[in-house]
Amino acid sequence: MSKRSFIVAGNWKMYKSIEEALQWSSRFLADYRAAVHVQVPVFPPFTALFPLHGAFRGPGLSLGAQNLHSDLQGAYTGEISGPMIREAGADWVLIGHSERRQYQQEQEALLAEKIRTALDCGLRPVYCVGESLAEREEGSHLDKVQQQLLQGIPPLSPAEWGRLVLAYEPVWAIGTGRTATVEDASAMHRHIREVLVKTHPSISFGELPILYGGSVKPENAGELFDHPEINGVLVGGASLDAGSFLAIVEEAQRRR
Ligand code: PGA
Repeated sequence: MSKRSFIVAGNWKMYKSIEEALQWSSRFLADYRAAVHVQVPVFPPFTALFPLHGAFRGPGLSLGAQNLHSDLQGAYTGEISGPMIREAGADWVLIGHSERRQYQQEQEALLAEKIRTALDCGLRPVYCVGESLAEREEGSHLDKVQQQLLQGIPPLSPAEWGRLVLAYEPVWAIGTGRTATVEDASAMHRHIREVLVKTHPSISFGELPILYGGSVKPENAGELFDHPEINGVLVGGASLDAGSFLAIVEEAQRRR
């Protein structure tokens, strides 16, 4: 039987001061035991990246940023570049989170540039896709995600495909307490793989991690991990509490 591996990612959004981040880290580390098949990247706000870089260390643990600019440097007041977040300790970066699509009007052409820049900077991009409630209800969710994949991912070499992670986050399940059913999530994950296989016939997508995100909690994480199409989770609200996040990590560790 082939062994499964998981990514359990925590997206803190605009929560936690540096001091709160360090407290979270010591609580998490007090009980965390690594397992080789589970990677745990945490995405704090920019200001907590460097302080956490010194504290949040151990096998399987890493840090990511929640955004980056598409250029490497320039006169862009208020922006942060890939090399800057790399220097601050990030190995990963979220790209295309629905909150940035919604509040910063980020669209696929820009997101494709950001994925390119992230890879060029040695970061692992986690590209987020997902439909709105209206799109789900009118039945256009498969087309919407297909469009986000085809327009938001730039041309990549086989090695670069090997560094990309996708996260399916239906907008109606984010922060609402309403999780997609395992069937809905796994059907979309299968759709994502099929779209990519059809459009990139020379690439093997067997190993491409596809995470599910949207109201993941210790109580529902296990059934998500049990599904072979789901390679991990992107956790928002429940990652803010060290104990809840650790409980989700342990659910993944129990599965192999
Ligand atoms: P949630 O957020 O777990 O609070 O729903 C997930 C996300 O936005 O990444």
